[in-house]
Amino acid sequence: MSKKIAIIYTSFHHMNTERLILSLDAVDIFNTSKLNNLNFSKYDYIGFASGIYYGEMSKNILNIARKIVLKDSAKVFIIYTCGIALKNYSKSMEHILHTRHLNYIGKFSCRGYDNYGPFKIFGGISKKHPNQNDINNFKSFIHKIQNL
Ligand SMILES: Cc1cc2nc3c(=O)[nH]c(=O)nc-3n(C[C@H](O)[C@H](O)[C@H](O)COP(=O)(O)O)c2cc1C
Repeated sequence: MSKKIAIIYTSFHHMNTERLILSLDAVDIFNTSKLNNLNFSKYDYIGFASGIYYGEMSKNILNIARKIVLKDSAKVFIIYTCGIALKNYSKSMEHILHTRHLNYIGKFSCRGYDNYGPFKIFGGISKKHPNQNDINNFKSFIHKIQNL
């Protein structure tokens, strides 16, 4: 039987994270703004995805990770896009996953166009990201999960 994979995401700055996620097929995709049922117990793999806002993933997606209902054997993963790939921005999400003793299998991150705050003056950074190369890398990350 094929594995059931869900990705739950928040994306609002330039829809960078959404563009990445929507490049996939054979994955069920949920936007946090339209999510009213947190019972994901039919899924084998669940991804939490968002942009990075003030050094961490969106509060929305962090809250969902705190409350989501999963089956015991479920495996979870993280996806984020960020303006500057300088550090590990998923520490607070990883902390939640570890505190809940969820089976965390890895993460994917790439840059996403950012013209927030001072970057506006320069016309923004990480222009054109996620680009086709980012999308290809992301697809192979998901493909590995599908073939685990
Ligand atoms: C309010 C705000 C805060 C941000 N803070 C950071 C940050 O701390 N580090 C970073 O690398 N990028 C930061 N960014 C850039 C976003 O993480 C980046 O553009 C991301 O791709 C946005 O994803 P989205 O378009 O899916 O919302 C910030 C953007 C906004 C709007």
